[in-house]
Amino acid sequence: MAYAALRSIGAYAPDKILTNDELAQMVDTSDEWITKRTGIKERHIAAQDETTSDMGVEAAKKAIQRSGIKKEDIDMVVCATISPDYFCMPSTATIISNKLGLGNVTAFDISAACTGFVYILSIAKAFIESGMKKNILIIGAEKLSAITDYTDRGTCILFGDGAGAAVISATDKKEEAIIDVHTGADGAYADLLMSPNGGTGSPHDSLDQEASSCFMQMKGNETFKVAVRTLTKDVVDILQANNIQSEAINHFVPHQANYRIIKAVGDALNMKESQVVITVEKFGNTSGASIPMAINEIYENGTLKKGELLLLDAFGGGLTWGSALVPFSPLE
Ligand code: ACO
Repeated sequence: MAYAALRSIGAYAPDKILTNDELAQMVDTSDEWITKRTGIKERHIAAQDETTSDMGVEAAKKAIQRSGIKKEDIDMVVCATISPDYFCMPSTATIISNKLGLGNVTAFDISAACTGFVYILSIAKAFIESGMKKNILIIGAEKLSAITDYTDRGTCILFGDGAGAAVISATDKKEEAIIDVHTGADGAYADLLMSPNGGTGSPHDSLDQEASSCFMQMKGNETFKVAVRTLTKDVVDILQANNIQSEAINHFVPHQANYRIIKAVGDALNMKESQVVITVEKFGNTSGASIPMAINEIYENGTLKKGELLLLDAFGGGLTWGSALVPFSPLE
């Protein structure tokens, strides 16, 4: 049987930075409130003409180059995004594949909001273990600034733009293999976090200006409570299911939505500060891109070493959630 291994990671953040002080000029908020309630100090914002696929391509180039795998050998591309280049078609994954010159590959997007990266990890694992694919490029990429309402202080302070990518490859070495991925969803909570316009569920008759606005709306406080409860349970479940103690985790990489959520889940698991990866202060919430961008931080600053065990944990619109136990298994 083939196993699936995480070979490499890459990420990209646009140059432009939007600070809390700048947001305080736009809505009734303050650096103090945002820092205290979320831990966020700044977020990166894509240029007007910079698309989700442009950012995905930059992250993917790094992941491919670091994987040691030839781009001709990539046979599938999956992109997790809620801010695709085009809402109906073509998929952002096909655009990224074309921009990278990958030729004939299977390519598609999935929509699982902030849990997107864990979902595409589970897809890559399943395709590789079934023998259908050998080298899969997975990308979380978001231009959330395009779907953020900058008059709503409850949401606009949270979100940023960016992309992260990874190459997942077949291996026959069990010690290199992704150990487990759990994914879940409960549509009963759909209204906590949604972009209510622009689709066939929209109350509007046609795709006019108002109907096509896909701004995110969120019941923040309710979402917060469900997030802490669900994330904690999810992580406990995956550790127990695999008989792994939290001390064995080298890097706990939660979705970067809010420092208080990360702290509550980390504390519930008795994680030491040194185990928990936090990037929310500089990137904000980049939804499907947040986990690979956070893994990339510890890769680039030299903290992530070959063979170390990552615990991933995510939560987002849908509602969706997921967790994963993943050894870092570069070829070199
Ligand atoms: N600046 C100042 N005051 C604010 C701001 C702001 N930016 N936003 C809200 N407030 C006010 C509210 O109006 C409210 O005032 P009131 O008491 O007079 O009514 C007060 O602050 C408290 O509001 P809450 O919503 O209760 O604040 P909370 O502490 O819950 O923080 C936040 C809000 C940061 C949004 C938090 O609820 C949160 O992080 N929620 C979870 C987000 C999340 O994880 N989402 C899922 C992933 S996202 C995805 O899938 C795309």
